[in-house]
Amino acid sequence: MGIDLTDRTAVVTGGAAGIGRGIAIELAREGADIVVADLDDEPTLPEEKERGTTVEVVEEMGHEAEFVKTDVTDENQVSSLMDVAAEEFAGIDILVNNAGIAGRGKASETTLEFWNKVLAVNLTGPFLCAKHAIPYLVESDQGRIINISSQGSKRASGTNTAYCISKAGISHLTRSLAAELGSEGVNVNGIMPGPVRTEMMADVLDDPEQRQTYLDQMCVDYYGVPEDIGRVAVFLASEDSRYVTGHEVAAEGGWLVN
Ligand code: NAI
Repeated sequence: MGIDLTDRTAVVTGGAAGIGRGIAIELAREGADIVVADLDDEPTLPEEKERGTTVEVVEEMGHEAEFVKTDVTDENQVSSLMDVAAEEFAGIDILVNNAGIAGRGKASETTLEFWNKVLAVNLTGPFLCAKHAIPYLVESDQGRIINISSQGSKRASGTNTAYCISKAGISHLTRSLAAELGSEGVNVNGIMPGPVRTEMMADVLDDPEQRQTYLDQMCVDYYGVPEDIGRVAVFLASEDSRYVTGHEVAAEGGWLVN
């Protein structure tokens, strides 16, 4: 039998657009109901806008979906998000910590304000979401946390310092939460995407020179789409991954081995 996420509820942060939207749609394809937690429910890229909001797409697929306006850096909003999701969907089974922002720049040129902002969204946000989802996830018979890191968590970059450090942090959050929650029946894993054409990366990947620089570092000769990350999330959300916890799947076209 294939993967079946029927009757599972997934909270996907940053699920209105990009990779989070791709993850939400792929989880719904396997039967999950979706809570989209984002600053705004409007998608960003023209092709996303044409198809409708994530909630509309998931509902068209025949599953329940709700948007809850949430800033993942605000603990009160995060706490309320998890309470609302659990109340309306009778629990939470899957948390996808996907919301994130770019953090380009050299350390020598990074302001403290920018550093704090990148870490607040990319690292403190996932911590807060996990903290407030845990009471519900342990009630699930198959609790799952999926943290979206980056191939940048593994390789130093002299020009992307705050971002890469925030992503190295979330990678270790994955391991720490796995150690804490394994005996409670909650598996915690991560995904390290490589370049995916979203609002965050459109300027880079639409520039032929920059795109080629990326492709030259990879094994494959194409960059990813949000659904590529969504399919990995489906596996990590499912019963099939019951013996996998504390690890990260690289979905990066071979960037890390080239
Ligand atoms: P995106 O910019 O297309 O989407 C990010 C989503 O997060 C947006 O909907 C945005 O509104 C939301 N968001 C931002 N700050 C938020 C906050 N404080 N609270 C709630 N929601 C917030 O970006 P993309 O590319 O889809 O990125 C998703 C995740 O994937 C991020 O964590 C990013 O670091 C990671 N990633 C992306 C890669 C890429 O090539 N696109 C590569 C590696 C990792």
